[in-house]
Amino acid sequence: MPVDRCICHDVPFDHLLRLSREVGDNFQTLSSLTGCSTGCGMCKPYILEMLRTGQTRLPVLSPAQVDAILARYAENQPER
Ligand code: FES
Repeated sequence: MPVDRCICHDVPFDHLLRLSREVGDNFQTLSSLTGCSTGCGMCKPYILEMLRTGQTRLPVLSPAQVDAILARYAENQPER
């Protein structure tokens, strides 16, 4: 079964993709505007992958894929 939304906040990825075209593809901005990824957080790597690929229906990711996606995102964040 493909993953196509933030389940906790019922935010479909196709909505997030359209919104990203209006406000930019910054994950934190999208999360602030919709609440996505502010619950369990399991959707975060899927949203990041959706923003990278433009695909709104994603296969279930392996733990290694999740780790790689989150590591790539962390590497691209500015130092705090
Ligand atoms: S599925 Fe998105 S926060 Fe839980």
